[in-house]
Amino acid sequence: MDKYIINGGEKLCGSVEIQSAKNTVLPLLAASILTDEPVKIRGVPMINDVESMLHILTEVGCKIQRKKDCALIDSAGAVSHEIPTRLTKELRSSVFMLGPLLSRFHRAKISYPGGCDIGLRPIDLHLSGLKRLGVEIVEKDGYIHCETKKLVGAEILLDFPSVGATENIMLAAVKAEGITVIRNAAKEPEIVDLQRFLNAMGAKVCGAGGGTIAIEGVKRLRGVDFVPIGDRIEAGTYLIAVASCGGEIETRGVPPENIAALLHKLRENGCKIYTKNDKIILTSDGRLRSVDIVETMPFPGFPTDLQAQYTALCATAKGSTLIVENLFETRYRYAAELKRMGADITVRGRTACVRGVEKLHGACVTAGDLRGGAALVLAALKAEGQSSVVELSYIDRGYGEFEEKLKKLGAKIRRVRI
Ligand code: UD1
Repeated sequence: MDKYIINGGEKLCGSVEIQSAKNTVLPLLAASILTDEPVKIRGVPMINDVESMLHILTEVGCKIQRKKDCALIDSAGAVSHEIPTRLTKELRSSVFMLGPLLSRFHRAKISYPGGCDIGLRPIDLHLSGLKRLGVEIVEKDGYIHCETKKLVGAEILLDFPSVGATENIMLAAVKAEGITVIRNAAKEPEIVDLQRFLNAMGAKVCGAGGGTIAIEGVKRLRGVDFVPIGDRIEAGTYLIAVASCGGEIETRGVPPENIAALLHKLRENGCKIYTKNDKIILTSDGRLRSVDIVETMPFPGFPTDLQAQYTALCATAKGSTLIVENLFETRYRYAAELKRMGADITVRGRTACVRGVEKLHGACVTAGDLRGGAALVLAALKAEGQSSVVELSYIDRGYGEFEEKLKKLGAKIRRVRI
């Protein structure tokens, strides 16, 4: 087990190269079994969630080669439609295997997926979408057994624009017979990237990024060599770190429109932001004013995956901020840890009231989920004195070379064995 030791109070300055988006790479890896030709994905981050997905592909019978940040998946020998419980428990995105497994084998068996404990996280929308495509589903002994004679295109109206359900249905529909239309689809940039990937394989998908996605089923898909989009949540995390601590940062690899909601708030907080193509330059004097209210929403609203990090920033802004979490029920566990550092936060259900304090102080805190863990690191970078952050396995799920990138910005952070 490792922990971070962080000496806070430093201004941060420099540039950060942003990794490919975790939330794109995971469905793309699952999609690689839609063809038996090799699939190459570039810029694949060295993070635990990706390693877990690669384990799942290996278990199904794929051959994986990992060269630097490139992953080559050869699924010609894929034979299994089952994913063992020990692997699905590691990773919620294991659920993305349902669509591709059904497309390839007409059968799939997985147990309920795990992942960060930030709320109920049901998969009913995934399952009802698959049923509409002609899949019979039986839930028995903790497993989901899916079977279909033939996937057939259908009209699907999602009750909520779920990112995962939209992606799973797209993955099942690309080789279904006929046309599938997904209404009230999620609009996240990662959905647009999945469409780009599938079309590069020969699929016929259009409309991603809007509320309606149309998919005309094709018989075959081919291999592809693909560079995914940059990780807007990773970029957002570093931008918030520098906004909070003060200094200057340039991020490369994420178009500003993909995190416009965050940039809008940071400008209101008093940061200066310049953007050009996929570059974002932010300067901050580290003495921010609070904004009244921040509510998480599906894209293009404020992303739930930046809620915790942004709350850490609000902890020392001048004035109070009301944070409303509309996506996940229990996404404030980190708030108790921030309070140990001197933050003044009251949480009631989906709402947190953050009253900015002059200073945070160093403390020993424990990460409880991926983004909450990142928020604790950001708070420790701002705090006076020394902090330690334990349970880094959560942070390692989504941030590649986290401490190296922060060190490059001038942060005093080191990783030590406990
Ligand atoms: C994805 C992201 C995650 C992000 C989230 C919201 C990946 C790998 N993960 O997660 O980082 O926080 O989008 O932007 O891309 N819901 C249902 N039934 C379902 C599915 C979802 O009720 O079948 C609910 C969820 O409980 C939640 C909301 O819909 O309240 C949003 O979930 P969803 O968009 O599906 O998130 P994920 O795909 O799990």
